[in-house]
Amino acid sequence: MTWSHSHFCPGAPDRPHQGQPGAEEVAPSEPAPLCRGHPLSALPGPTNWPLLGSLPDVLWKGGLKKQHETLADYHRKYGKIFRMKLGAFDSVHIGAPCLLEALYRKESAYPQRLEIKPWKVYRDYRDEGYGLLILEGKDWQRVRSAFQKKLMKPTEIAKLDTTVNEVLVDFMHRIDDLCNHNGKIEDIYSEFNKWSFESICLVLYGKRFGLLQQDVGEEGLNFIKSVKTMMATFGMMMVTPVELHKSLNTKVWQAHTNAWDNIFKTAKCSIDSRLEKYSANPSEDFLCDIYFGSQLSKKELYAAITEFQIAGVETTANSLLWALYNISRNLHVQQKLFQEIQSAVSANESPDAKDLKKMPYLKACLKESMRITPSVPFTTRTLDKETVLKDYVLPEGTVLMLNSHALGSNEEYFSDWTTFKPERWLQKNIINPFAHIPFGIGRRMCIGRRLAELQLHLALCWLVRRYQIIATDSKPVETLHSGILIPSRELPIAFRRR
Ligand code: HEM
Repeated sequence: MTWSHSHFCPGAPDRPHQGQPGAEEVAPSEPAPLCRGHPLSALPGPTNWPLLGSLPDVLWKGGLKKQHETLADYHRKYGKIFRMKLGAFDSVHIGAPCLLEALYRKESAYPQRLEIKPWKVYRDYRDEGYGLLILEGKDWQRVRSAFQKKLMKPTEIAKLDTTVNEVLVDFMHRIDDLCNHNGKIEDIYSEFNKWSFESICLVLYGKRFGLLQQDVGEEGLNFIKSVKTMMATFGMMMVTPVELHKSLNTKVWQAHTNAWDNIFKTAKCSIDSRLEKYSANPSEDFLCDIYFGSQLSKKELYAAITEFQIAGVETTANSLLWALYNISRNLHVQQKLFQEIQSAVSANESPDAKDLKKMPYLKACLKESMRITPSVPFTTRTLDKETVLKDYVLPEGTVLMLNSHALGSNEEYFSDWTTFKPERWLQKNIINPFAHIPFGIGRRMCIGRRLAELQLHLALCWLVRRYQIIATDSKPVETLHSGILIPSRELPIAFRRR
């Protein structure tokens, strides 16, 4: 299962902004030359056993939890593009900037990811809408356009700095409280998820759920629990027919449905009260401005916002944890980062979006962390037309895996790739923009990217300014694939007050 939000697993106004494939670096598309190439069956790839495909090899190399490393190895062995079957699941893997650029140039108006059927079946069952993670075609484009301007425009996102800082102030107190005498935090993963949850909820609903307080709010905890249950139950229905689960009313279906019911109940109630509060002056409010300035129905708004939340919590928390881990093991980097923060923000002031402009090294640290330890290792595309890539004719319906993790761990694109070196991002024109796609690519790239970056940059400022991040051991920490790439053990980091 991949996030491809499959765990879930660029042009006109909908195209993303700077620094990402999909942006200015790329010239407008040229008409593709009319030529035929090799068929899909000619693609190289690992041994394809009857019925099982390459499953035995993937399991032997460490199983699905290590699939990202196996796939990176396959790219080293079979090259920039290969084909693999896992049981009945057939996919073509892309791990080279030139091919991603070619794909990007041929991208259709409404690119598709792999379908998340269980979510669609639930929404149809309860007559709820679809959000961006599962919408397709013109409906996807309409909903995306409604949010694009606010969420992808740097000047709009910059206005959220005070909101993001409000949660960070509480998070700093919380860290102080949680650190034991060695500066260690028990269950740090869930604590960082609470920060991320609280932060995105304040942006989306204008409401605090109290997760960073000592007496944690019941509503927030139930919400988080429901998200966990929903995520834990849909994987099974991706690999076995969801319609069957529904008609047999299996335990998995029941748990999944109950979880979504809770999620929608809380989200709808929070959205309604926000719309009501600002209905007289919608332009003053982030969400109301989007809603009243668009043609979205309430049903579409509920679904879109709910999915932002599903997509934005764990990904952001996990990225922050990896960044702290990486700088804990590279003290010279951390020192340089601390100095940059000190010179950009005075000690008793909150860092804001303006200050971030003076911090190229901070941004480079996050990029480097997302290269070496990306939260989302790959995303997917389902081709809606026959497409030629590197002389291979890929038929309509082919599932492509766009492998961000394999790109980041390829010596050809990142020299000395195992070394954490933020400096590499500060050299001009060295890195091909299509070699770094932690937020995906093209029209369908992550719409929360700028919000996530604002949260992560500000969080790093607050944390590094107040604490030295210490590595508590030097044993390796592996990445495990569990929808996103998580650490194989509790992160060996501690916080020491400066
Ligand atoms: C560090 C944090 C994050 C990472 C690494 C991340 C990564 C990704 C990736 C790889 C994709 C797939 C893009 C593609 O297929 O090309 C994606 C899509 C998406 N993300 Fe994020 N994401 C993050 C945070 C967020 C946040 C905070 C939000 C909420 C505002 C969000 C909402 C979405 C949505 C709605 C999509 C689907 C977009 C569409 O299909 O139009 N993400 N994300």
